[in-house]
Amino acid sequence: MVSEKILDFYKKTSVYTDLGLYEVLLNNKDYLEIVRKIENIKFITDGKWDWEHGLGHYKRVAEYVKRILSQLGANQRLIDLGMVSALLHDIGLIKGDKKDHALESSVLSIKFMKDMDITDQEKEMLCQAILDHSKGSSIQSLVGLALVLADKLDVTYHRTQNSSIQDQMNKEIQKIKQVDIEITRTDLIVAYKTINNFNVSVLNNWNKALTIPEKCAEYLGKRFIFIINDKEIDYRNFLKLDN
Ligand SMILES: [Fe+2]
Ligand SMILES: [Fe+2]
Repeated sequence: MVSEKILDFYKKTSVYTDLGLYEVLLNNKDYLEIVRKIENIKFITDGKWDWEHGLGHYKRVAEYVKRILSQLGANQRLIDLGMVSALLHDIGLIKGDKKDHALESSVLSIKFMKDMDITDQEKEMLCQAILDHSKGSSIQSLVGLALVLADKLDVTYHRTQNSSIQDQMNKEIQKIKQVDIEITRTDLIVAYKTINNFNVSVLNNWNKALTIPEKCAEYLGKRFIFIINDKEIDYRNFLKLDN
């Protein structure tokens, strides 16, 4: 048995690492190099958007994934894997545009997973989750569900405050100060905290913010409840759904 003294020595000298896969990837130079390049690209579509797609987004998505999976009773390993999928889900943006970036991210992720202590089955699950993170049209695992949902919860001011485009939409998004997720026995609750004059109809420009939580709730056999500043909103009244 290893003595306390030796263990202590290893911990202090950092030879001993108790890092999860998430921290290991966050310290991977090649990964950080790709992220840095993505952070220098502006993702503008038809003169709109230019939302933040860098490490801040990935880390926030990872925290949401952690929360969702914890609430669903997942074990530590699955949570760690889910958080890794969050770090990798958008790296396909390195190609310079958003088209098919989920597929590109999934392919590029394999390279990073090779160096990680991940089984083939886990790799498959992560690749599938990343491939499906944009639309959630084929949710096949709890990680897949957590990732597509978490990605749509990251709709706070962080995404647009440094945008080169300060149009009505991006200014409105800056009024969303906090987004919380709560999964109970019966409900999946998404709660926004916003500045008072937030115009909720702006979400029509990105209705996935609501249609994806709704889809995830359905997948889990729960009711979807949308709350803004402690008040339940009947989102179907204002949402123009294209499906
Ligand atoms: Fe994405
Ligand atoms: Fe994303």
